Amino acid sequence: MSGEGRGRIPLYALDRPQGPSRLRHGPGRTPSVRQVTLALPLARARARSWSSLEPFSDEIRGEDQVLLIAATGGAKSTLVATLTLPIPSLVALDEKDALRLPRARIVQLPSHAATVTDTEPDAYYRLVVRAIAYRDGRGDTNRVILRPHVLDIDGFDAHNDIFHAVYDRRAVILWIDEITATGATSQRVQPWLKGISARGRTRHVGLWTCTQAPYGVTPTILRRNATYLIFGPIDSEDARDIGRSQIELAETLPRKSGRFIVYKAGEREPYRLFVPIPDVLAGWKAP
Ligand SMILES: Nc1ncnc2c1ncn2[C@@H]1O[C@H](COP(=O)(O)OP(=O)(O)OP(=O)(O)O)[C@@H](O)[C@H]1O
Ligand SMILES: [Mg+2]
Repeated sequence: MSGEGRGRIPLYALDRPQGPSRLRHGPGRTPSVRQVTLALPLARARARSWSSLEPFSDEIRGEDQVLLIAATGGAKSTLVATLTLPIPSLVALDEKDALRLPRARIVQLPSHAATVTDTEPDAYYRLVVRAIAYRDGRGDTNRVILRPHVLDIDGFDAHNDIFHAVYDRRAVILWIDEITATGATSQRVQPWLKGISARGRTRHVGLWTCTQAPYGVTPTILRRNATYLIFGPIDSEDARDIGRSQIELAETLPRKSGRFIVYKAGEREPYRLFVPIPDVLAGWKAP
């Protein structure tokens, strides 16, 4: 964070995403999310409040890891959908069966149990590999919404295969809209999710994880490796395991406002973040 973006006009228009053909991607080139808040900096207030924080104005790189924690209606899905709009290479895990995104194709996955057999134990993994394969040459989009079968919500093995396929795909941002719906817990994490978190950077794989669950439920490796920890409005009873200083501001945020607090790894002071809903997502139903 340089802070030099303060008060400047956004680096790109959030409501005018570039089409897939205009942005290059693929191994060796990672897309990045440029983010500058629209708000002008206010004079630093004495009392610590959301508006007294410096506005967040970093460039989030494609291979960065973002952990977003906010209660129901805390605008998580809207924020990620907005910031990843210009990203041409995306895999979004949609356990709620309701996510739609501009320029994205939806893939409904069959049940893991029905796909894996004794003779073909990696059948599901291979199926996901095909489902998320690059389709540049075919004039199709590389933004994919994956909808696991209803019986695989929480399915540990199914999600391990999905994470494996994403790891192998490279040059992609993986958006997990609700980490607890993947079967990962603070005690037990899929090996391939660990792989993405630990080695994703060198594979140009970014990881955006959202949750409305208490902090302590989130896999430790995701908390440890997060480049950005973003809090939206949080209920105090859900937040007992979050540091007092981090939570006191998040508790004051109104829901459905698009206001967030961003902690950057290695820095003490948080930033405030507000991203307006872009025109292309106006009236959009976030899951
Ligand atoms: N930037 C914004 N400005 C104003 N209102 C917003 C903004 N972002 C989201 N909202 C409002 O907040 C509502 C909830 O947002 P969203 O569905 O993204 O939250 P969520 O955290 O994903 O919720 P859930 O936990 O249910 O998945 C939206 O329907 C929208 O009305
Ligand atoms: Mg949501």
